Amino acid sequence: MLTKIELFSEESADKAAEILKNGGIVAIPTETVYGLAANALDENAVKSIFTAKGRPQDNPLIVHISNFEMIKPLVTAVPTLAESLAERFWPGPLTMIFDKTDVIPDVTSGGLGTVAVRMPASEAARAVIEKSGFPLAAPSANLSGKPSPTTAGHVFEDMNGKIPLIIDGGECAVGVESTVICFDGNKIRILRPGGITAEMLSEFAEVEIDKAAETAPNPDERVISPGMKYTHYSPKANVFVVSKRADEFRKFRESRKSENAWFLSCGDYGSGFVNFGETAEIQAQRLFKLLRTADENSVETVYVESPDKSGVGLAVYNRLIRAAGFKVVDE
Ligand code: TXA
Ligand code: MG
Repeated sequence: MLTKIELFSEESADKAAEILKNGGIVAIPTETVYGLAANALDENAVKSIFTAKGRPQDNPLIVHISNFEMIKPLVTAVPTLAESLAERFWPGPLTMIFDKTDVIPDVTSGGLGTVAVRMPASEAARAVIEKSGFPLAAPSANLSGKPSPTTAGHVFEDMNGKIPLIIDGGECAVGVESTVICFDGNKIRILRPGGITAEMLSEFAEVEIDKAAETAPNPDERVISPGMKYTHYSPKANVFVVSKRADEFRKFRESRKSENAWFLSCGDYGSGFVNFGETAEIQAQRLFKLLRTADENSVETVYVESPDKSGVGLAVYNRLIRAAGFKVVDE
């Protein structure tokens, strides 16, 4: 199959909607990462997403809507708290979990009785949903296990020959996937940290962060968000999080500089370092791209100065520690 990349326009969005209406899959930009989209209500269309990504069947997909009315047939009820959060954070990088109705096929929900719903902010994503007329199931458009794509070029690397069309909306503004939350009585539980932070959510209710956000999953424990139990975001390079800051990180590089390695620093440390970014927002935008670029440069090892975990930093740390397979240098 020939894979075309077309800049986002009314025409390319129409083309994408046509493919989706015929049960096909297309890649679309969102403000977080690129998504691989199919009609969320069409079992066979959703199955082709799993095939293209090589994704485990029990890992459920996020269902994307373009206006609030679209959620109603999908879920049994929208709690008042969820309504307030939607009013404040939708459209945007927040995914909420609800009890699902039978309209959502089992393949979409990974066999769970719940469904994850998000209203993306990206104009291109919204146009394609609007023109299709149905909600779109869309996981990140990378091969399962690889770093998520933040440009159309990244999607092409992973999906060339597997899908007919990639809509190019430029670089993703957030750069890491949406915050996934569920409701635990009146509490908000963060299953996957993202652009909408714990600090932002705590204005609305008590917030609990799932252990899986920072630590390795325990194979004996049930994981609420199945996606958090898999190895993820891994480049070919061997990634390590280094728990040393500033001068200590500089010294660390001195001792390893003969290696074929990149040293990602949380700021401009001059020659010998690759600037990961001064703020968590910038680090989020750069993380996946840097991991892919390390591979393009045949870098063997990537050492990353451990970033701050506050705000969006928790999302950055969550992706990084998974890319590192939970390997931390702290000697
Ligand atoms: O920003 C995003 O969320 C991107 C863009 C394309 O919208 N999508 C994305 O999808 O990251 P994906 O499939 O790569 O990640 C979905 C995450 C997984 O960790 C999955 O386990 C979790 O959401 N999830 C989906 N449905 C769930 C459910 N019913 N209960 C618990 N976790 C769920
Ligand atoms: Mg993903």
